[in-house]
Order: sequence, then structure tokens, then C-alpha cells
Amino acid sequence: MQVYEKRLDIVTDVATFKTEKKTIGFIPTMGALHKGHLALVERALEENDIAVVSVFVNPTQFNNSEDLVKYPRTLDSDVELLSGLSDKIIVFAPTPNEVYGPQMASISYNFDGLENEMEGKFRPGHFDGVGTVLKHLFTIVSPSRAYFGEKDFQQLQIVRKLVEIEKMSVQIVGCPIYREPSGLALSSRNKRLTEVQLEAAPLIHKVLKQVKKDFGTESVIKLNEWVSEQFENNEILELEYFEIAKVSDLKSITKKDNDTKYRAFIAVFAGKIRLIDNIALN
Ligand code: PAF
Repeated sequence: MQVYEKRLDIVTDVATFKTEKKTIGFIPTMGALHKGHLALVERALEENDIAVVSVFVNPTQFNNSEDLVKYPRTLDSDVELLSGLSDKIIVFAPTPNEVYGPQMASISYNFDGLENEMEGKFRPGHFDGVGTVLKHLFTIVSPSRAYFGEKDFQQLQIVRKLVEIEKMSVQIVGCPIYREPSGLALSSRNKRLTEVQLEAAPLIHKVLKQVKKDFGTESVIKLNEWVSEQFENNEILELEYFEIAKVSDLKSITKKDNDTKYRAFIAVFAGKIRLIDNIALN
């Protein structure tokens, strides 16, 4: 399997694929790959001639320096996992300098306000960092399609907006959340959970499923209260936010309207590890 660190190497390969009229499916990741990532890669391989997987822990999207330092970095085992899947995969594992050049800075984006909701409120600058790195990576990899998990649903909507703003021709493909049998959404951060935290964390999805069940009959205010109560006396999990929001603009609601699509979003701390999840409600 080709593992490139240099921008120029992958740009050269991509140019060859383009002259051969080959399509490229791109899966941007920060590594510590799990089955959720592999499902994205498999989908990309079904729909394209080549899959490019980037493994890059992007410093500009971390607003918490400890989270950046502790983010799992497992390139060797990531490459091994991908090698077992197909020989049509290329890994791009650059240094910050290869992505950003000498000045590692975020562009300040206006994603029509999507960046100010939920994750944006709690992680200032996060989506500028995500938007900037993806603009660079899309330019380098020049993919036909790029694949993102719905676990980061806000990120997915922002990436759709990014390609509109930057007038990039890549098609953004959203893929279902991949869960453990316990319901816990797969995340690279799960690798840092202790056994006790791992046992407690499935409550997050359990709560979301109940909200979905009750969404037709209960008021949004009641549902918000009920979710808070579920975490009130929990010694392992601390609720950071729960919101029911419109899919279109991610604005949180207190009252439902007919003919509007909603999703419930949640962020929870297990110790210092932050877990997010969401569910379609209607
Ligand atoms: O979702 C992620 O892993 C990251 O935000 C991404 C899209 C790879 C950008 O660094």
C-alpha cells in the first residue's frame, strides 16, 4: 500500500488517475481508525476506482490543547487495517507543513451561522479549522466524492456549505453512524475510555432512542427536561448539551412545526473525554 507523506507525491498520482479517467473517493480522517472509518472506505471503494484516506491530526481544529496532545496516533495499525481491505487504497499521512505550508492558520469562515450552533458554541474556532484543513486536503486530493459519517452531523452540513462557498466540485456523501452492539457511536476518542466509562457510555444512545420514540407525543421542553434528568446523578457521564434542532439550519427549537425535519444532538463528558452523538427524529 502506498503511504505518502509528501503533498507532491500524491498530487502526481492524482494527476495520473485523472488522465486515466479514474474516480477518487476521499475519506479524510484523523487516524485511530475504527470500523466506522472502514465502512466509509468500503463505500468509497464501491463508488470509485481509488480510495484515498488521509490520516492527519489537524491542530487548527482543536480548541483544547490537552485533547490535541492526547488524541490517539496509531498510523502503523491504521495502515495495516487498510491493507487488509483492498489494494486500491492510498494513504496520505502528511506533516502540518505539507498541508498548510509554513503558516499554519485557519481561514475565518461564515457557514451561514451553522458554525455558531452546538459544537461551535462549545469549541470556538473548531469549524474554521475543519473548513481550512478540508479546503487544503480537497485541493491536494482533488476527489470526485468525499465521505463523512453522520456522527459529526454538524460537521457534515458545514462541509456541504464549505464546498458551496469554495466552489469545489467534490460530491459530499453522508454515511450512517456506525455503532457498537451496545449502541455507543464509534469514535477514535472511545480508545481513551476506561472500562467503567465504556460501560456507562451506551446511555447516550439509549437516551437518544427514547427521545426519538417520544418525539411525536411529548413537548420539546419536556424532552429537554427528561434528558437532563437522565444525567443528573450520573457519576461517570456529565451532560454538556442536549438540543433538538432543525436539520436545515441546526437552530435549536422549543416548539415543533409540521413539515420540518428535526434531529436531536448531544455532547457528554466521560471524565475529560468528550463524546457526541445525534439521531434523526422524524
Ligand atoms: O472528522 C474528522 O475526523 C475531522 O474533523 C476531519 C474531517 C478529518 C478534518 O480534520
